[in-house]
Amino acid sequence: MALVNTKKMLADAYKGGYAIGAFNINNMEIIQAITEAASELRSPVILQVSAGARKYAKGAYLKALADAAVKDANIDLALHLDHGADFDICKACIDDGFTSVMIDGSHLSFEDNIAVTKKVCEYAHERNVTVEGELGQLAGIEDDVNVSAENAHYTDPAQVEEFVNKTGVDSLAIAIGTSHGAYKFKGEAMLRFDILEEVSRRLPGFPIVLHGASSVIPEYVKIINENGGNLGDAKGVPEDMLRKAASMAVCKINIDSDIRLAFTAGIRQTMRAKPEVFDPRTYLTVSRDNVRSLVAHKIKNVLGSDHKLD
Ligand code: G3H
Ligand code: 13P
Ligand code: ZN
Repeated sequence: MALVNTKKMLADAYKGGYAIGAFNINNMEIIQAITEAASELRSPVILQVSAGARKYAKGAYLKALADAAVKDANIDLALHLDHGADFDICKACIDDGFTSVMIDGSHLSFEDNIAVTKKVCEYAHERNVTVEGELGQLAGIEDDVNVSAENAHYTDPAQVEEFVNKTGVDSLAIAIGTSHGAYKFKGEAMLRFDILEEVSRRLPGFPIVLHGASSVIPEYVKIINENGGNLGDAKGVPEDMLRKAASMAVCKINIDSDIRLAFTAGIRQTMRAKPEVFDPRTYLTVSRDNVRSLVAHKIKNVLGSDHKLD
């Protein structure tokens, strides 16, 4: 068993009409929870690391923990850089042993996005590392960059063939109405499935990625709010929309906020119920169990990736 790139995972998901969960990792408990759930359900899975996660946990620790998880869970895993901002961070992660990277040039001009994505692809492909690019911009907060709703824009399907052909990218993240964080929709949730359809018509068989795909599970929001939190009008992507996307060309679904909510719910609930506790292992065990159940639920009921390793 090993860290592997995402080529086969995404191709199999496309053919099978399901999606691979790409879960953000920030510490040991989260890595254990994700990989134990995936192993138990025989599901392929992607562990992804943001620049913020690299800064918080240090890249070397996350890489070593991912290596440990491969041994412990006894399944292949992909280790992916989430939202790589430039060539240098992609190169650093590839040199550190990541098996997949995202170069996020979505804020650049079309031409500059093509140029940097192509450069990353050339470096990555020589080293058997897969590359995700992005066209269109999601709203929300990622790594201190707050993209306002006015600056966010949907992917233009007319650009996708040129982008993929000129860059050689292996998968493409598109903007169809999701956003990062726990506050995704003011009113009714709405995704532009027509854009997804048009993109996949233009790129037959090509894996599409959906960012900002947490459902903001109400059960965890409620636990947090009942135990001293204040999450206001948190709202995510309904699970039936994610299932629909997974049955279409979406082969990778990114989930971070739901993990944060499940983890925080465990800590808040335990702290409140057991004020005498000061052993971190007590509340982190509850948090880890929450994340394990959350990931198992996503794999079985949203992504449809269970038993695809059999
Ligand atoms: O896309 C954003 C992810 O949720 C990562 O968030 O940059 O705060 O680690 P972060
Ligand atoms: P969420 O904030 O919806 O979990 O999105 C995470 C993401 O897209 C990471 O790249
Ligand atoms: Zn994202």
